[in-house]
Amino acid sequence: MVGTLRCYNCLVLFFCILIIAESCKKKSNPTPEPAATLQSTAPFPMGAAVNSPNLKNKAVYVGVLLTEYNSVTPDYEMKLNWVEPQQGVFNYADGDYIVNFATQHHMRFHGHNLIWHQALPDWVLNFQGDTSAWENLFKTHIESEAAHYKGEVASWDVVNEAIRDDNGALRNQDVNPGDGSIWRQHLGPDYIARAFQYAHEADPNALLFYNDYGQEWNGVKLDSIIALVTNLKNRGIPISGVGMQMHIDINTDPAGITAGLQKLAATGLKVHVSELDISVNPNNDPNIVFTTALQLTQASMYQFIAETYRATVPAAQQYGITTWEFSDADSWIPSFYNRIDWPLPFDANYKKKPAYFGLLKGLKY
Ligand code: G3I
Repeated sequence: MVGTLRCYNCLVLFFCILIIAESCKKKSNPTPEPAATLQSTAPFPMGAAVNSPNLKNKAVYVGVLLTEYNSVTPDYEMKLNWVEPQQGVFNYADGDYIVNFATQHHMRFHGHNLIWHQALPDWVLNFQGDTSAWENLFKTHIESEAAHYKGEVASWDVVNEAIRDDNGALRNQDVNPGDGSIWRQHLGPDYIARAFQYAHEADPNALLFYNDYGQEWNGVKLDSIIALVTNLKNRGIPISGVGMQMHIDINTDPAGITAGLQKLAATGLKVHVSELDISVNPNNDPNIVFTTALQLTQASMYQFIAETYRATVPAAQQYGITTWEFSDADSWIPSFYNRIDWPLPFDANYKKKPAYFGLLKGLKY
């Protein structure tokens, strides 16, 4: 009996030691917290423009996107030249792919864009018709695409870049080829209000945005944008928000960024930083080196933008921050400006840059 008791005590002692050892081990190696991500840190949606070829073919692209972002905007797949390449012939396949991807992964979808003076197919650019024929073309496109994505798209950039850089007037048949707007030319200045009405009728639950660039460096354009969206809002036109694209560079004046965000927030509309990227080679230097100093300057600007957005835009109006793609490999800037540049938070190998950590830091409370 005594022997059995001694064995039992030894066994109890052994398990006690085991439990103590285990708890000490856990204390010395606590289960690591999951690494912070842009989407887990931001108090609002973190978005990225994405392209369907990469979604289909690039696993590393999909991996970073799903880890870091909870909102997507199509890079080009929902623009008129892609969706309606011939009048009345609609091609939604690539847009559907991105929407289905977003739905499958519970990501918000921001549609881009229904009406723009660029990305127009030849049949539109060469269209011959009277005002009612133009109105029919315009209305049919908006209603068809907005109805197709009804219930799947949280929001739309209904009209993109309708205001000139030089004088803040509506683009019309401007002096610079490609800067004009056939929509203003053939439909009159109030085409913008009707675009929002047609989109709202087709998808009453979608939030509707006016989207433009230059608010952080062009005070005349900023004031014109504010006058436009305020007029629409005051007339009861169904506008929900305004997009501040923020295609900026390391020389962009921080005071302009703050003023732009403040003035847009003062409209009471939602504010979406909709196409953020920060060029480090605005002077097209062919010999530029992406030095550590440049990388840290870019990082501090990403941090500044996130902090300023949080500090100046009331929480109820924070529609989120969207980068225009997320890796330098997919940025539009090097090809558009024919220069080397590294504008985004991830490098060409989809590795986090200092810019990523600057953005992450700026998102933290
Ligand atoms: O991926 C296809 C490829 O499969 C096809 O063979 C090839 C030939 O047609 O086209 C490729 O798609 C091109 C795409 O860029 C990707 O390179 C489209 O033709 C081309 O039109 C598209 O350009 C886009 C541009 O808008 C016009 O839609 C840019 O990626 C995109 O970054 C740019 O984004 C604009 C915003 O919408 C508005 N704000 C400014 C911003 C930058 O210009």
